[in-house]
Amino acid sequence: MTEASLPNARPPFEWPTEGVSRVAFETYVNPDLYALEQKALFKGPIWNCVGFDIEVPNVGDFLTAWVGDTPIVLVRSGPDAFSAFFNRCAHRGSTLCFEKTGNRKRFTCVYHNWSYDLEGNLKTVAFQKGVNGQGGLPPDFKHSEHNLHKLRVATLHGLIFVTASDQTPPLDDYLGEKMCAHLARTFSRKIKILGKYSQYMHNNWKLYMENVKDSYHASLLHLFFTTFKLNRLSMQGGLILGGDGGHHISFSKMSTDVSTPTEYDKEKLRAQSDAFTLHDPSLLKSWPEFEDGITHAIQGLFPNLIVQQIQNSLAIRILVPRGPNACELFWTLFGYEDDTEQEGAMRIAQSNLIGPAGLVSMEDGVIGNFVQRAINPNTDGQAVLEMGGHTVEDQVSRVSEASVRGFWQMYRKTLDL
Ligand code: FES
Ligand SMILES: [Fe+2]
Repeated sequence: MTEASLPNARPPFEWPTEGVSRVAFETYVNPDLYALEQKALFKGPIWNCVGFDIEVPNVGDFLTAWVGDTPIVLVRSGPDAFSAFFNRCAHRGSTLCFEKTGNRKRFTCVYHNWSYDLEGNLKTVAFQKGVNGQGGLPPDFKHSEHNLHKLRVATLHGLIFVTASDQTPPLDDYLGEKMCAHLARTFSRKIKILGKYSQYMHNNWKLYMENVKDSYHASLLHLFFTTFKLNRLSMQGGLILGGDGGHHISFSKMSTDVSTPTEYDKEKLRAQSDAFTLHDPSLLKSWPEFEDGITHAIQGLFPNLIVQQIQNSLAIRILVPRGPNACELFWTLFGYEDDTEQEGAMRIAQSNLIGPAGLVSMEDGVIGNFVQRAINPNTDGQAVLEMGGHTVEDQVSRVSEASVRGFWQMYRKTLDL
């Protein structure tokens, strides 16, 4: 391990000898590891997505977001320029900006009124020369040495990413060709935002990212998916991995589901139930909108961004850690500017499938806590990740945990664990 190593982990933190097919339960619990993640992962050589450019359309428009659990401000600092900085005054550290969004010409701290321009440069200091010739800053004080802590910003297809590290490769290289191609597909038309909400979950952030990357669970845990044949492992699909395994796309094509009898009928699954029907089947109405025939595509970009296409329900989700035992998931639902009124209405209706109270994904909001509450008092032992073998590579079957192993591969590499 390097200087970024864990200071006082309990007990000394060693990755299991089996590699990425095992994850020690301690990994989801350890507060020292959480602190290391904040420093060496979220503020390390990765890109953090913070939102869409259309959320800050005018010069001076800003939004507040997070890099890991560190609050930041993203601002449109010019017609085609964005700036980002820690939401922390360079004087004595007060929070600078409390609103979720807004428009500013300057960022002025409420504590002693130090004021910064849209790029985060310190412009004015209140009472710099003192009062009545008394007090004030020494003559050799240099404003330029007291700017806000700045982050690098990059944009791709309207998504805005920031990084705190000089070592982070260019965004295209970080994501790789396959991930960029899928983003180009999802964002090939101008988008419009349909709504936003967040969801607080009582589990370590990595348990949710595992869930996102776990195509094995989708039609087992989610009764709605399976019963109403929205996403089943018997459909054509696969897993595409990118980066050091930390990025993935899990996809399926609804029209390719094989007819009876499938493994689903043979296995007598809890999620396959004839007891459930819909009073209003219009909820399941969708239209094919991508030429590749894919009806379900979840793209997970390391470490904490999810781009979702479930039928015509489109969204990005950004996961923010809230201490070792909690996280908050920020959802932004979107459609396209040229959607018809009917298409827009169908997207919104289908959004009832997803989200904290969604017919499909309410289970994803609670399953992490089912794990957390069992491992918190008993961290001995390890999770097993052997579906689809031991490797990290593309899969034609989604009966696989390859993309979960991929997440851990990139995690270990980033943290040198
Ligand atoms: S802490 Fe911001 S001006 Fe003093
Ligand atoms: Fe799920």
